[in-house]
Amino acid sequence: MDRSQLIRTKRVEPSILSADYARLGEQVATVMDAGARVIHVDVMDGHFVPPITIGPVIVEAIRDQVHEAGGMLDCHLMVECPERQVEQFVQAGADSITAQLEATSDVSHTLEMIRDGGCLAGLAINPETAVEEVSELLAMVDFVLCMSVNPGWGGQAFIESSIDKVGHLRELVGADLPIQVDGGISTATAGAAAQAGATLFVAGSHIFGAEDPAVAYRELVAAVDAE
Ligand code: DX5
Ligand code: ZN
Repeated sequence: MDRSQLIRTKRVEPSILSADYARLGEQVATVMDAGARVIHVDVMDGHFVPPITIGPVIVEAIRDQVHEAGGMLDCHLMVECPERQVEQFVQAGADSITAQLEATSDVSHTLEMIRDGGCLAGLAINPETAVEEVSELLAMVDFVLCMSVNPGWGGQAFIESSIDKVGHLRELVGADLPIQVDGGISTATAGAAAQAGATLFVAGSHIFGAEDPAVAYRELVAAVDAE
């Protein structure tokens, strides 16, 4: 399956934000052996969001492992001026790059750069950003990310109004465009998000915070597939 097929299929994406970085390769292998094919990378810059997390060196470190197992790296940039970082993530081996709509004054240029670099382009909106804001940009994106927490930290509670928001987004974008949800996704919340129209489910703490990440991944897949 190529990368555009991967994101066009209902899918749970483990976010390595909650992984143990001292044994990252092993953790990635665990979820990929369990069936995961899209690995979510949460990049935070200490400006757009308070924490600083990881960057292109981590993408580079796991790119071969993920690609050899038939997977892809989905890089979610929670950074100011993402246009300044796109090239580095392309070079590092990103397969899709998501920019936050709120983070740049030139979001269409950013999305263009992502596609010009050969990556799939994602556009993320924060909980307080109206879904209508994506409408002019739909031709430039491969998926839309509806944040279901305020970005910045793993392990936050799912914002319940995200369900209606995903529903509105689905009406706005039509049946085909993948909708990703990110934040607070667990077996308790994924089903309702799927019912509302989400197709890509990012989960960090639910998977890597579990005693057995493979089991947690498979339970989440089952919750999503049941809808
Ligand atoms: C939040 C990040 C998420 C985060 C989700 O700022 O964008 O991808 O890893 O973590 P959980 O699944 O723990 O809410
Ligand atoms: Zn994310």
